[in-house]
Amino acid sequence: MSNENTGESRVTEINSVNDQYNVVSEGKAKVLMPKDNEVFYNPIQQFNRDMSIQAINSWRLVYNEEKLAKLKRKNPEAVLPEKDGKIKIMEALAASGLRSLRYAKEIDGVDYILANDLSEEAVDSIKRNAEYNSIPEILLKTNQGDAIDVLYAHRPPEKQFDVIDLDPYGSAAPFIDAAVQAVKSGGLLCVTCTDMAVLASNNHPETSYAKYGGVALRTEFCHELGLRLLIHALQSSATRYQRYIVPLLSCSIDFYIRVFIRVFDSPKKAKDAVVDTGLVFYCNGCSSFYTQPFGARTLTGNKNLKYSAAHGPVVGTNCLACKTKLTIGGPCWISSIQDHGFASSMYEAVKTDPSRFFTNKRMMGMLKVISEEQDVPFHYTLSELCSAVKATCPPILKITSAILNLGFKVSTAHSCMSSLKTNAPNEIIWDIMRAYVNSIGKSAKIVENSVPYHILSVPPRSDIDFSIHPEANPDSRKIKLVRFQLNPEKNWGPKSRHRAPKRKM
Ligand SMILES: C[S@@+](CC[C@H](N)C(=O)[O-])C[C@H]1O[C@@H](n2cnc3c(N)ncnc32)[C@H](O)[C@@H]1O
Ligand SMILES: [Zn+2]
Repeated sequence: MSNENTGESRVTEINSVNDQYNVVSEGKAKVLMPKDNEVFYNPIQQFNRDMSIQAINSWRLVYNEEKLAKLKRKNPEAVLPEKDGKIKIMEALAASGLRSLRYAKEIDGVDYILANDLSEEAVDSIKRNAEYNSIPEILLKTNQGDAIDVLYAHRPPEKQFDVIDLDPYGSAAPFIDAAVQAVKSGGLLCVTCTDMAVLASNNHPETSYAKYGGVALRTEFCHELGLRLLIHALQSSATRYQRYIVPLLSCSIDFYIRVFIRVFDSPKKAKDAVVDTGLVFYCNGCSSFYTQPFGARTLTGNKNLKYSAAHGPVVGTNCLACKTKLTIGGPCWISSIQDHGFASSMYEAVKTDPSRFFTNKRMMGMLKVISEEQDVPFHYTLSELCSAVKATCPPILKITSAILNLGFKVSTAHSCMSSLKTNAPNEIIWDIMRAYVNSIGKSAKIVENSVPYHILSVPPRSDIDFSIHPEANPDSRKIKLVRFQLNPEKNWGPKSRHRAPKRKM
């Protein structure tokens, strides 16, 4: 069965080997899955596993180059000893072990992988599958334990892992403090959260604050805010230990989010947290947003960094455009969530050898869009902007061109279709929308003191140019990649926890 949205055919091949097991093939691994436990395998997460394999492979090249450069500073002839180029990976919540099996077979230069799970059934499965795939115990070690305990036991630098993968059911929050300490400086944290009802909605501000240290909002940019809340949680744990984080890739995928973040030791850089963190004031009336950092960083005369509390608030209690009361989201991470060079290197690697990944079309699509994403927090959507001024939606290229023609930048956001991610401030966006409404003729039915009334009460600027700008059509659109995912298969979504079948008494 082929799926036109994703360009993927049916996700995996499943064959029955005997009464007890099905064999699931994914990537280079074949996994024995108990027939009575369907939730053990979630095919929708194949994309997550494919992306993770490429992310770790691409990060490892950078990591080893940095190690070599360090050696070469002492001795220009130095080469990286083989053992130093090998990486130790921990999969903290490994379930069937499928991900760890694939890491063992598809990631280069692995020293060993520690596949851990709390459940005995899971650890038995990992052992059974390691044997079935002829992966030796020195390459794939297993452990049954609480991931939090295991991670804390790996805090000493000589015990730390180069990569830690957290892929829980629901929230990764309980594991974050331990994970940021158990990873080597320069190492990689790969973190999934599936609790989007908490991270990307209005329903539980108390829960998102309690778990991630920031308030989530139900907005069109809620998935990006979810990513920024998770990154904020990772950062605030890291800085406690004089470490800082660098996001390489932040992905909003189907019903979950996944981030790839490096952690480094540096008491000095940990101080940047005050500049990288802030609040967002959001207008439910017209979708304007205003970000407020907590601190500012300046360079003194003798080139020392100086931090100061930021001036604010950046806006009053009500939206400047439509006068609606603003809602506060965050604190969250407001700096870069993507390393564009890293996304491009992953894209090129997949493109060079796509057959390694079943989901290669979607990988390339997402990586291309991410590599084009503007490095500014949050975005608008065309439909929100048009509904705020009670106008029909024009082709998006018309609005992106107007933004570009004024000298600002704009892209789409991978986390939201028809989004406009731009460095143009709110006022400019409304100037453009006023000019657009003027060009099509004002709607007659605008109620006094309503959102469109306030926005359109300001006269439009005369210098808005809607003619199509040459950069309005990005590469990802031109080369017809799978840019956005629609429902990948029937009844897709997160799998719930497996409950052991009730025993007959
Ligand atoms: C979503 S599954 C992991 C899927 C796996 N990463 C993959 O890609 O196939 C979550 C697993 O976490 C395990 N788990 C839950 N709490 C845990 C804890 N505190 N420590 C270790 N494992 C835990 C569960 O037993 C379950 O197997
Ligand atoms: Zn507003």
